Amino acid sequence: MTTGFVPPPYPYDRLDGFRPLAEVWTGGLVDLSIGTPCDPPPEAVVTALSTSDSERGYPPSIGTAALRRAVRAWFDRRFGVDVPDERIAACVGTKEFVATLPQWLKLREPWRDTVLYPEVSYPTYEMGAILAGCRAVPVPVVADGSFRIDLDAIDEQDAARALLLWVNSPANPTGAVDDLGAAAAWGRRHGVPVFSDECYCEFTWEGSAHSILEHGLDGVIAVHSLSKRSNLAGVRVGFYAGDAELVHYLREVRKHVGMLVPGPAQAAGVVALDDDGHVAEQRTRYRDRLELLAGAFERWSGVTVPLPAGGFYLWFEVGDGWAFTERLAREGGALVSPGALYGQAGDRYVRAAVVQPLDRLKLVAERLGVS
Ligand SMILES: Cc1ncc(COP(=O)(O)O)c(C=O)c1O
Repeated sequence: MTTGFVPPPYPYDRLDGFRPLAEVWTGGLVDLSIGTPCDPPPEAVVTALSTSDSERGYPPSIGTAALRRAVRAWFDRRFGVDVPDERIAACVGTKEFVATLPQWLKLREPWRDTVLYPEVSYPTYEMGAILAGCRAVPVPVVADGSFRIDLDAIDEQDAARALLLWVNSPANPTGAVDDLGAAAAWGRRHGVPVFSDECYCEFTWEGSAHSILEHGLDGVIAVHSLSKRSNLAGVRVGFYAGDAELVHYLREVRKHVGMLVPGPAQAAGVVALDDDGHVAEQRTRYRDRLELLAGAFERWSGVTVPLPAGGFYLWFEVGDGWAFTERLAREGGALVSPGALYGQAGDRYVRAAVVQPLDRLKLVAERLGVS
């Protein structure tokens, strides 16, 4: 019998009981629970996977020169920010980066022990703190229903102990778009590095896309992924960039761990990053799906389903997120995520990821009698 760490159930495994309820429908389950892209990446990206001639040797942990050049060019094109190559490094998708980061930061500053993250957010921010034996301290969101992070609510003592603050804009699951300049300023004022998870930035609906790096590189790190931008979640390419010392430290420690994006994946990442056309197409797909599904859910349930400020999730208040999830599985054959998976403050909400083609969403609307 172990008395040590016991991993909690993986959030999405908690939905397994709902699947059989939806699977009985002709046409099967329409899975809107996990934010896993369903659309194809560009053909040239897939070709690059098999033609890079990079299978034999170990790939550089920090990312190939070509990948870091492509990242630099993308930051410049997208945000007008010049990020020197040595302030950029690769990660194996961003989930591993998020989950392992606190342990590396704690080794560097053992006198600090706290990870700050938005109280309704991607569960791996909290899990990374737990895996490092740190205090996971959720930061409240503002009370106006926008779910933006409330930096003023951070306790000074927690700030003094903080290894980092996570922000995520546009946010999963809420779609909130935060003031990244305010987050950077908060971090610099308190001497706390701010890690800005920007993996949904290409799907910003209100205003234009932003990176925290627009507010200077010092004391901040932007974290990006090609999983959502380029439908490459299966290939595992992410990158982080910003503060010189932090990037240098993380690059070095991650080399020792053997965090390597496979060479063919890095080559594919270059092709994906160099192309903005497929991202524009994907934006249109998500927008159409968000609008269709929001309308169908509103007509069926009578609750308001707002369109998000960013991202590809509908996030709406239903009263009891678990009960709504069960009812939708039974009556619509669709699976969504109860908001409690993203923090207790989300328990009156559900999240629906529009990662199914339009005809599958129309099928759900038909089943619900609101097509
Ligand atoms: C907010 C957020 N950050 C990071 C990730 C991790 O994505 P990946 O590991 O594919 O880069 C996800 C995936 O859903 C996410 O929603």
